Amino acid sequence: MLSLHSTRRAAAQATRLAACVSTAARSSSTLQDSDRIFQNLYGKHDWGLKGAMKRGTWYKTKDIVLKGDDFILEEVKKSGLRGRGGAGFPSGLKWSFMKGATDDRPKYLVVNADEGEPGTCKDREIMRHDPHMLIEGCLVAGRAMNARAAYIYIRGEFFQEASNLQVAINEAYDAGLIGKNACGSGYDFDVYLFRGAGAYICGEETALIESLEGKTGKPRLKPPFPANVGLFGCPTTVANVETVAVAPTILRRGGDWFAGFGRKRNEGTKLFAISGNVNNPCVVEESMSITLRELIDKHCGGVTGGWDNLLGVIPGGSSVPVLPKHICDDVLMDFDALAAEKSGLGTAAVIVMDKSQDIIDCIARLSDFYVHESCGQCTPCREGTTWLAKVMHRFVRGDADKEEIDMLYELTRQIEGHTICALGDAAAWPVQGLIRHFRPEIEARIDAYNKSKADAILDAATA
Ligand SMILES: Cc1cc2nc3c(=O)[nH]c(=O)nc-3n(C[C@H](O)[C@H](O)[C@H](O)COP(=O)(O)O)c2cc1C
Ligand code: SF4
Repeated sequence: MLSLHSTRRAAAQATRLAACVSTAARSSSTLQDSDRIFQNLYGKHDWGLKGAMKRGTWYKTKDIVLKGDDFILEEVKKSGLRGRGGAGFPSGLKWSFMKGATDDRPKYLVVNADEGEPGTCKDREIMRHDPHMLIEGCLVAGRAMNARAAYIYIRGEFFQEASNLQVAINEAYDAGLIGKNACGSGYDFDVYLFRGAGAYICGEETALIESLEGKTGKPRLKPPFPANVGLFGCPTTVANVETVAVAPTILRRGGDWFAGFGRKRNEGTKLFAISGNVNNPCVVEESMSITLRELIDKHCGGVTGGWDNLLGVIPGGSSVPVLPKHICDDVLMDFDALAAEKSGLGTAAVIVMDKSQDIIDCIARLSDFYVHESCGQCTPCREGTTWLAKVMHRFVRGDADKEEIDMLYELTRQIEGHTICALGDAAAWPVQGLIRHFRPEIEARIDAYNKSKADAILDAATA
């Protein structure tokens, strides 16, 4: 007779298989070079205006702008684009929220170029190697929102990226592509670059707005939401670099073209940043809903020591729960498939760990990160992240009671959903993933610690 556990496992496997079949029906998981939106991701060509124009950037942008806000919003909705900053909210819908603000306050687009999530390194490639794609995206997305200007908030450490972006912004102004009468469309649109000081919390949209206003980057309580009261008290939409940068290509090639990749509700192409124990870590644009295994085997030369040497994968940046090998075997890389496995696509930063890794230590290191980055406003986050890290480090040594595993899980549940911003959830989820999938490893560590302690006492007694 099947146990409950294996019945569940079989059901999950069947769901994954069905998901694979439906992907195959919609599109080949292998993306052709001609379907790649980012044609200079690896910086092999000129990143300046001339090079960008050769690759098709700024082509017929005037026509897109002249088609107006409703047209752009409709195409983006049709494309199925979901925000690439982590939460995956439908972009067309989000970009339409500021329509509700009908007074005469100026509206702003704020581009989130903070990229501080451990493992995530995709936006910097766009800004360093193809900055005009982002600037053109600002104009197109800004037109959809009827924004007066875009503020690009870039992580302070990204010196090269900020420098290239500023050169590109200057080039775009000189060529009349932005500024007064942008592209000759009659629409006035400015783009400003603002360098942050490099705090992870400033990637949270309201903390980012506070920081842009010159204050300490601490998240605001919502409501009011930025679409109503954002930067300088004006309606504001915060969007990720990649989300904004893909918009002009979607508009040129059509929403249906973009929606032809990936599964329903998970459409499009996507930048994946793969790091850790793979033979060739890289950032690559692929179709959404590609299998994790194909992504790693095809673009990274496989897991070090082969697929069977895989221990687990964090599929979407440090904030999402780790997945063990048996789930990685056939999971799809999209929002819904990873949510079904109680993890997430997040920023699509894939952190691969082989069997040489101490998984408890890896997650403990992430806990340290969240202690350091908590802004301290909410008690569950400020105190909870500290406790998580303390207990996790005892687990690394094995210096704990087995009952504490459930106590630690309960602690994560007390943080999750009880804070002003999602940093609390981000701290809780990796620990939850560890307990869900690697409990035997924690228990074995505790047993080994207790045995070595008992042996030491025995040795001392018999010495
Ligand atoms: C602690 C924290 C850090 C974040 N860091 C980033 C970041 O570096 N870049 C980013 O685009 N979004 C980040 N986000 C998500 C943003 O708050 C916001 O959802 C996103 O920029 C919206 O863009 P999108 O709709 O294009 O995804 C972060 C969220 C939290 C809670
Ligand atoms: S959850 Fe943490 S980082 Fe977010 S506002 Fe509260 S204390 Fe600050």
